[in-house]
Amino acid sequence: MDERRGSATIPDVARLAGVSTATAARALGNYGSVSAATREKVGQAAAALGYRANSLARSMVTGTTNTLGVVLSDIENPFFSRVLRGISDVAHGAGFEVVLVNTDESSDTERNAVRVLTEKRVDGLLVCPADAGSTDHLRWVAEAGTPLVLVDRRIRQVPADSVVVDNRAAARAATQRLTELGHRRIGLITGMDGELAERFAVPGLRGIERALINTTAGRAAGYRDALVEVGVEVRSEYVVSEGFRREDAVRATKQLMSLDGPPTAILALDSLLALGAMQALRELGVRCPDDVSLVGFDDADWTEAVTPPLTVVAQPVQRIGSEACRLLLERIAGSTRPPVHRVLRTELIERGSVAPAPRPHRAERLSS
Ligand code: RIB
Repeated sequence: MDERRGSATIPDVARLAGVSTATAARALGNYGSVSAATREKVGQAAAALGYRANSLARSMVTGTTNTLGVVLSDIENPFFSRVLRGISDVAHGAGFEVVLVNTDESSDTERNAVRVLTEKRVDGLLVCPADAGSTDHLRWVAEAGTPLVLVDRRIRQVPADSVVVDNRAAARAATQRLTELGHRRIGLITGMDGELAERFAVPGLRGIERALINTTAGRAAGYRDALVEVGVEVRSEYVVSEGFRREDAVRATKQLMSLDGPPTAILALDSLLALGAMQALRELGVRCPDDVSLVGFDDADWTEAVTPPLTVVAQPVQRIGSEACRLLLERIAGSTRPPVHRVLRTELIERGSVAPAPRPHRAERLSS
């Protein structure tokens, strides 16, 4: 008995069960071949001695830890908490534990998280990259052979599986619905701040789809595409980037509504931003959708409960997590196929927060 830890060791269990230490290790670590009778004998011995698996010792023997490292951008955002639900359901079903790190969209924090999780010998990594322009640490992990799957954002220079949606097409469809309703003055709340915000100040959002950033770049490109289709140039003052918190969106919306010729519709690029926009419109006494139509990204739980219910671009969020985790487990099990890139479908769910543009600002011909 290992007195220092006050708990039985594998050799103690092996002695009591009358088997070799290696056999006891296989039975306790649930790997390799062990007969049912032997497994029963070892289990009884372990129970009698109060044996508790020492995960570090097991990882030294098997080279695995049965843990997955998950690195997400903002666990306060309902999108990421639901992605985590998808990941953890699949992981637990396969006997894996999940170790979570939140990056707040900081690539430095992400880089450190990847280093620490790799040192802790997680069996694989699920990462939502904070900045597509800073990914050498992810490329290094992939090229070193650590199983890695990218979630929500594909990074072309990182040879790893990914599970995403087509953000540009989704944002284009949402903005097209607004132009069909006659809106031409459409604001965009991006959620970016700091240096990233400057990259969305480019005139007309020209080339924004090539900006190596995150999902926001694709959505901004889709917004621009739909406006260009109806002959409208993106006005820089209509693209506001004040940060990704709800209170940042309150400020961004009030900034939009203070413009000469304020927008008659707003596209907010996630559910926290849409919530802030709704709050700002209410505080300003601006009626939604009579005065301003509002569309958000992500079908958070509250979007149907508010008045008016919010029109949203819904992503299959939990499925993004579960499919990413299944891909990772296949890698951990030894799959060597070329990287898989899943693109899941989004859905524009129209509710009460959109209406035809107020008559004085309505485009001449309304699409049905
Ligand atoms: O902030 C959350 C949003 O950004 C989600 O829509 C998700 O796609 C992430 O990229």
